[in-house]
Amino acid sequence: TLHSPLKVAVVGTGYVGLGTAALLAYFGHQVVGLDIDQDKVAMLRRGELPIYEPGLGELMAVCGDRLRWTDDYASAIPDADVIFICVGTPPLPGGQPDLRYLAAAAQDVARNLNGKMQVVVNKSTVPVGTGDWVTRIIEEHAPDYKAHQYNVVSNPEFLREGTALFDSLYPDRLVLGGNNEHGVARLLELYAPLIEQDFEAPAHVPRPAGYTRPEVVATSLSSAEMIKYAANAFLALKISFANEIAGLCERVDADIEEVVRGIGSDTRIGRQFLSAGAGWGGSCFGKDTSALISTGEEYGYDMPILRAAVTINLRQRQLIVAKLQKHLHRLQGKRVAVLGMAFKPNTDDLRDAPAHDTIARLNELGATVVAHDPVAMERARREWGHLKYVEAESAGAALVGADAVILMTEWKQYAELDWNEAVKTMRQPVVIDARNVLRGGLPGGTLERIGRRGQSQPQ
Ligand code: UGA
Repeated sequence: TLHSPLKVAVVGTGYVGLGTAALLAYFGHQVVGLDIDQDKVAMLRRGELPIYEPGLGELMAVCGDRLRWTDDYASAIPDADVIFICVGTPPLPGGQPDLRYLAAAAQDVARNLNGKMQVVVNKSTVPVGTGDWVTRIIEEHAPDYKAHQYNVVSNPEFLREGTALFDSLYPDRLVLGGNNEHGVARLLELYAPLIEQDFEAPAHVPRPAGYTRPEVVATSLSSAEMIKYAANAFLALKISFANEIAGLCERVDADIEEVVRGIGSDTRIGRQFLSAGAGWGGSCFGKDTSALISTGEEYGYDMPILRAAVTINLRQRQLIVAKLQKHLHRLQGKRVAVLGMAFKPNTDDLRDAPAHDTIARLNELGATVVAHDPVAMERARREWGHLKYVEAESAGAALVGADAVILMTEWKQYAELDWNEAVKTMRQPVVIDARNVLRGGLPGGTLERIGRRGQSQPQ
């Protein structure tokens, strides 16, 4: 239990907002989560989650009345010591994030400030300079801003969907960017349990062996904003690098998994985010790399490394269907099973999922698509109405009578299928493993992977 719990308001109940609210309530703070979407608030009040995130519901359930939900700024903001803004910043067609939700939230927060040294924290991913812009919005909309004391702090979030709780409880670092000492000091107080690791680890998310505590990185507002983009861009380019090398491996009979093991064991390089496959997707890497590139353009500054990372990622998506064509030639009238729709396992998030582009391309080429995902099919019904595919009840059912199967998302249950058995129900046993998850060969079928040695020869 905390010596001095703080009052916290969290605006926005997406992955970041829900994760932040749950974490801080778990630490013992009094948290109110706010969303203008009344349906989401109603769900949360019933104890239901508007997103799929393993373990999050369990963590919230133990927070009791330290965690409540509202759609009303006037009931959430005046009392709060710290206000987190965690609204979405979806990409605009030009690549820059759409800041209209952030502007609206900042205005509504400002109108309800109480003038008692409240701290406004920006956790949404926003271009460098946005913290200052939020400060100006607050100055404009706070009822009597001169009498008000407030601070804007940038506290970027590094959690991954699917492992949000683990990432929030045991982060590598905590970045706090502010141009004023009070704001950062307040956040150090708020995050004390995290910084000291002074909390009982939840049974379902144990503290990893050897983990001690996060490094606290205190910076200026702009640096904190830049850190968020630079971190995502670097991870994205690691993936694109692995994919580029994988393509060459295929041509020179080398194996990307061996190569990655060999380079990743160099601690300066590191093994993580070097898995070759269908390329990155999700709501962050594509959006954040484009945003950095267009910020560069605004300043007349070219960013060729990032442009290349984006180009490679697009090429990688096209490669999946090209590999299929290598074995099936014409796809017109062929039945193709697609396993995995979410952009990665353990989430139902479909944003910028490589599976989307694969299905769209198969539609164009006249193939019949049979798709399966352990959790994302329901969301796909709502969001992918423009694509043509038949839903399969299970991975096994998707394979029956198919001419080929593409393993798009590395869900554990797909990796654990008995593939040699499963392909027996197919019309033709052509397997495109777009995530390199199948271990060993596939004696009973044709197996095509990404950058691996010993690919099957075209029929
Ligand atoms: C990413 C970052 O990892 C988080 O640190 C960050 O907080 C988050 O974006 C964000 O900005 O909100 P996320 O998009 O949830 O997290 O998922 P990742 O696990 O990073 O995966 C992104 C994509 O890269 C997935 O499509 C995944 O399949 C792909 N990937 C990842 C690879 O293709 N190869 C790899 O080796 C690793």
